[in-house]
Amino acid sequence: MSEESIHNRAGHEIEVFAVCPADAVERGGARGGSLSRIDDIGESRPFPIFVVRTVGNDYFGYVNRCPHDGVWLNIGSGEFFSPERSFLRCSRHGATFEIDSGLCIDGPCNGNTLEPVALAVIEDDVCLCGVKLVEDHRFADSFEDSEETMEIMIHPD
Ligand code: FES
Repeated sequence: MSEESIHNRAGHEIEVFAVCPADAVERGGARGGSLSRIDDIGESRPFPIFVVRTVGNDYFGYVNRCPHDGVWLNIGSGEFFSPERSFLRCSRHGATFEIDSGLCIDGPCNGNTLEPVALAVIEDDVCLCGVKLVEDHRFADSFEDSEETMEIMIHPD
């Protein structure tokens, strides 16, 4: 993971963290990882996120926490998508979310949204924007099927 900064349209500096190569997420796929962020009082907090890459090559990021019961969407199965892969879905309880908005359109948290994570693809890396991360954490590989552990994949900077 590397840290840089960019400027937004208003000229404000935004910290960006490269979390994985853009092609590490296949088109029509998603990848989750466990990062740590620095909160407002300087404490390290778990920051589980996932990145979705659409077939049309857009990237969306969300905090991996269902608004209904707070679990990872891919808990248990490792799968982020509904069977036809048109929607994101909580694999435990079936809440179904639009990929591009994170809006839940069916299930126990209908009408709520996943918390979005600002992403940008910069020089072939997926970068997290405006979040202060703990430096020594890197984007994890897929969560596999474990509910207890998230394996961290180290990739060369
Ligand atoms: S935790 Fe919300 S539907 Fe599963």
